[in-house]
Amino acid sequence: MATSSPTFIAILLLMLLHLHSSAALPLSVGSPDEDVIVSRPKGTFTAGFRRVGENAYCFGVWFSQAEKHVVWMANRDVPVNGKRSSLSLLKNGNLVLSDAGQFDVWDTKTLSAKPLELHLHDTGNLVLREQTNRSSVLWQSFNFPTDTLLPGQILTRFTTLVSSRSEGNYSSGFYKLFFDNDNVFRLLYEGPQVSSVYWPDPWLVSNNVGSGNGRSSYNSSRVAVLDELGKFSASDAFSYKTIDYGLLLQRRLTLDYDGNVRIYSRENGQEDWSITGQFKSQPCFIHGICGPYSICNHEQATGRKCVCLEGYSWIDSQDWSLGCKPNFQPTCDNKTEYRFVALYEVDFYGYDYGSSFSNYTYKQCEKWCSELCQCKGFQFSFPQDNGPFWCYPKTQLLNGHRSPGFRGQFFLRLPKGSAKENNLQNNEGLVCPRNAEKVLERPYVKGKENGSVKFVLRFAVGLGGFEVVCIFMVWCFLFRSSNHLVREDQQGYVLAAAAGCRRYTYSELKQATKGFSEEIGRGAGGTVYKGMLSDNRIAAIKKLHEFADQGESEFLTEMSIIGRLNHMNLIGMWGYCVDGKHRILVYEYMENGSLANNLSSNSLDWSKRYNIAMGMAKGLAYLHEECLEWILHCDIKPQNILLDSDYQPKVADFGLSKPLNRNNLNNSSFSRIRGTRGYMAPEWVFNLQITSKVDVYSYGIVVLEMITGRSPMIGVQDTEPGAESHERLATWVREKRRKAPEGASWVEQIVDPTLGSDYNVKQLEILAKVALDCVEEEKDVRPSMSQVVERLQSHEHGS
Ligand SMILES: *[C@@H]1O[C@H](CO)[C@@H](O)[C@H](O)[C@H]1NC(C)=O
Ligand SMILES: *[C@@H]1O[C@H](CO)[C@@H](O)[C@H](O)[C@H]1NC(C)=O
Ligand SMILES: *[C@@H]1O[C@H](CO)[C@@H](O)[C@H](O)[C@H]1NC(C)=O
Ligand SMILES: *[C@@H]1O[C@H](CO)[C@@H](O)[C@H](O)[C@H]1NC(C)=O
Ligand SMILES: *[C@@H]1O[C@H](CO)[C@@H](O)[C@H](O)[C@H]1NC(C)=O
Ligand SMILES: *[C@@H]1O[C@H](CO)[C@@H](O)[C@H](O)[C@H]1NC(C)=O
Ligand SMILES: *[C@@H]1O[C@H](CO)[C@@H](O)[C@H](O)[C@H]1NC(C)=O
Ligand SMILES: *[C@@H]1O[C@H](CO)[C@@H](O)[C@H](O)[C@H]1NC(C)=O
Ligand SMILES: *[C@@H]1O[C@H](CO)[C@@H](O)[C@H](O)[C@H]1NC(C)=O
Ligand SMILES: *[C@@H]1O[C@H](CO)[C@@H](O)[C@H](O)[C@H]1NC(C)=O
Repeated sequence: MATSSPTFIAILLLMLLHLHSSAALPLSVGSPDEDVIVSRPKGTFTAGFRRVGENAYCFGVWFSQAEKHVVWMANRDVPVNGKRSSLSLLKNGNLVLSDAGQFDVWDTKTLSAKPLELHLHDTGNLVLREQTNRSSVLWQSFNFPTDTLLPGQILTRFTTLVSSRSEGNYSSGFYKLFFDNDNVFRLLYEGPQVSSVYWPDPWLVSNNVGSGNGRSSYNSSRVAVLDELGKFSASDAFSYKTIDYGLLLQRRLTLDYDGNVRIYSRENGQEDWSITGQFKSQPCFIHGICGPYSICNHEQATGRKCVCLEGYSWIDSQDWSLGCKPNFQPTCDNKTEYRFVALYEVDFYGYDYGSSFSNYTYKQCEKWCSELCQCKGFQFSFPQDNGPFWCYPKTQLLNGHRSPGFRGQFFLRLPKGSAKENNLQNNEGLVCPRNAEKVLERPYVKGKENGSVKFVLRFAVGLGGFEVVCIFMVWCFLFRSSNHLVREDQQGYVLAAAAGCRRYTYSELKQATKGFSEEIGRGAGGTVYKGMLSDNRIAAIKKLHEFADQGESEFLTEMSIIGRLNHMNLIGMWGYCVDGKHRILVYEYMENGSLANNLSSNSLDWSKRYNIAMGMAKGLAYLHEECLEWILHCDIKPQNILLDSDYQPKVADFGLSKPLNRNNLNNSSFSRIRGTRGYMAPEWVFNLQITSKVDVYSYGIVVLEMITGRSPMIGVQDTEPGAESHERLATWVREKRRKAPEGASWVEQIVDPTLGSDYNVKQLEILAKVALDCVEEEKDVRPSMSQVVERLQSHEHGS
């Protein structure tokens, strides 16, 4: 209701004097404005009947200016008829919602001999209180939340948020937010067949909290509340600040139908909500999102997508939550032979057979799974560097998702004869509908626009001397299509909250860097300073030159993209600052410097180099293909590859070139050349179409540099007299391969002499081959980053 009418009854009262207690006889019709209850004094909220389906209505409370979102409902699971249903305050003090005048579908179970009134506060709280003593509250909607928590509303040990069933269906869904028996605040998926907790991660719960995001199970008060400034805190030590924390806005926290908890905010008077925080940054990690034997992918363009595993197909292609069934007959004899299909960076939650088993070889694990009747496949992973491999045979494959950076692989067991088809790629067409239910139109009465249709407040006066208040719903004609959930992918929210990414003020950063005094790097895009944040974290703080003239909202949009990226091989962004002309980024600080430093100091042995090549490829594959937006780096070079204390590479400086529209590759918006001489793909020079293959090219050059120890900038004349001075690194390596005698190992001629003989020839060969493919002049011949990852992974262990 675009509530233009601020007046309205805020207090609906009445009580009953004598006689029939349950009969609600509407005697008089209220004025046209009296179709709903509006909060007082500001009119922020409205209460009334909402249409939720064909001739189906629920009584609820919503924001007057954003009526799409219902913050509370009395009868979400039992809608009432459109005719003769009413909400009545009986003389015994009970507030009753009755269906078609016959059945009571909901009541407050209150009893009072004193006269009562129903009042809607500007906080959104609907209270039933005594008329004579307003602090005596018998019942309030804040104590019975549905899927939304409003600022100031306390979630307690007795209350639970339950998601809606789907985007258009307000019925109770599968997800719950509640305090568990151990005092920890949790998200639970309670599906038709299975249930499991998916937040927080188990390792965050400990008994000795103190650091990080850990949870405490000691505090038994079990309360959680969102404050008006945007901070959510729970008694188990969980706390979360929205990205716009500090501003006084309208806010709500909702457990959405997709199982994520999002905090939305909105300026007064605006229609659209912005997402300013969410508990789970990876939608595919929410349980129950895709059914059994399927894998969840998240893509910006199409939203969430579920695909069946190879050898499986949809039970019902319209309803992803049912999952997939095998195309083969599962057997349990010793005669069937099996093949195992590797799935990279795919993980399934739970359903391990027995406990886990460490120090297995691949063969042992495969044999075991083959012999185990219920085994559907196994996870083979290595949680620690140089640690043993772990083998986890799984009896069911649920909650499948891509897990970039996951240290291991999954091997799916299939009967040997079963058709070989790559489902993961071939069933593109099976895009799961966002919600399996039919989306309902939810029209409702607009009092001002059609005076003949409305909820009518009727004052019962009389017959036999009783008075009853009754909000009477007549019928709804006015249609207005509305989606109550702001779609995560489509709405124009300003900033998605990546946990921990926050906005800093210029003066905060000035203080952190002691007036931008300690410069640690300088590039085309800006200057990097070392600084210490107020929470004592050391940060790399990059002041951008080239974004200075960019508009604030455009910059914020880009930050929202970068802030959402989360991969072990990408540098983490902690925050940013937009303050007048200043555009500043705050990154984690990597004290072991860049690949460039360490290559020139010869501190990297072979396995480190291979590992770095692999990690870079994973980070770039994530940028190109897996993350929420499609992003090109455009300036891959050793200076932009940072190393952590384990020599894990982290790609830095990404996201400063515009993300490309995946569907519009032919029309990129690059206006000027980016990149660094020596690492730049020919497309830049010849002004050809720019695609992700420019990064593949630069990656290939960096890998060649790591293998050979030669810089692409200098050429090779200084190390090899006689070579032409302008000869490029890639050409030089190619020539070496071409001229190598049959059977001889050509890679020995190119390998960095400082490595001595201390390298793995097989790995060197594969790395050199991959790198040469990456630096092909013709972009279509180059592999994609994920193909590079696959090829390197198959030789990860030196075989
Ligand atoms: C009003 O109700 C509150 C809560 O029940 C009670 O504490 C208070 O004494 C009452 N005040 C009067 C004047 O009755
Ligand atoms: C909403 O979902 C519930 C539970 O699945 C179902 O029973 C009900 O029919 C749905 N309502 C509509 C209008 O689709
Ligand atoms: C328990 O949590 C509540 C609410 O967050 C807090 O006020 C209280 O101090 C906590 N108690 C202890 C012992 O930490
Ligand atoms: C299959 O072989 C295993 C080991 O050889 C044996 O323990 C098991 O009983 C056999 N199962 C059947 C159904 O023959
Ligand atoms: C793993 O197994 C191998 C061979 O059985 C053994 O030499 C090695 O010590 C084991 N490693 C661990 C960590 O148990
Ligand atoms: C109001 O509703 C009546 C009954 O359906 C309809 O005839 C009339 O056109 C409506 N008026 C407006 C302004 O929509
Ligand atoms: C890597 O480079 C950084 C920066 O020059 C240097 O501080 C660090 O010691 C190097 N690492 C090794 C192992 O040499
Ligand atoms: C590089 O990492 C190693 C291993 O954690 C650490 O000991 C060393 O101090 C780091 N180097 C620098 C320059 O900080
Ligand atoms: C892009 O251009 C290529 C050739 O120029 C063409 O084959 C391809 O279909 C185009 N793609 C799109 C999305 O327009
Ligand atoms: C490319 O996009 C721009 C703006 O986005 C548009 O004006 C232009 O017509 C497009 N060019 C082609 C070839 O599609």
